[in-house]
Amino acid sequence: MNTFNEEFCVPINSAADIVIARQKGRALAVQLGFDGSEPTLVAAAISEVARNIVNHAEHGEIVLSGIHQSGRQGVQVVARDQGPGIHDVAQAMQYGYSSGKGMGVGLPGAKWLMDEFEMVSQVGKGTTVTMRKWLR
Ligand SMILES: Nc1ncnc2c1ncn2[C@@H]1O[C@H](COP(=O)(O)OP(=O)(O)O)[C@@H](O)[C@H]1O
Ligand SMILES: [Mg+2]
Repeated sequence: MNTFNEEFCVPINSAADIVIARQKGRALAVQLGFDGSEPTLVAAAISEVARNIVNHAEHGEIVLSGIHQSGRQGVQVVARDQGPGIHDVAQAMQYGYSSGKGMGVGLPGAKWLMDEFEMVSQVGKGTTVTMRKWLR
């Protein structure tokens, strides 16, 4: 069973919103008990998926929540948009692949920073990335 608390949504429409999502995610991670460099790692992952919304989909949102699942606690980050979608998710996940002028390290980087990473995308409908990191 999942119980969610502290859920809040950050609309992503501009570069300034990336900073807000990053800061809110970092603060939530601290509040949930992440320490050391971990809040910064969570914030970095949030930055990448928020940046992708701005660069590749223009508008979207990031939903941050504290989660409890089978005795574990963690943070969940859902980034969703109704942008163009991705026709080849496996290719998009490859290190160094960018359809534009990016470095192509955002998605593989975010995956590496978090414990769980899932991306669902439909061309013409949009993209949803769900990431989780658990307290140790
Ligand atoms: N939210 C999104 N909507 C549409 N396409 C996306 C989205 N996020 C990522 N992509 C696609 O996946 C590719 C890889 O993303 P990423 O690893 O962050 O590299 P970069 O953003 O530097 O291009 C992007 O070039 C883009 O084609
Ligand atoms: Mg990117």
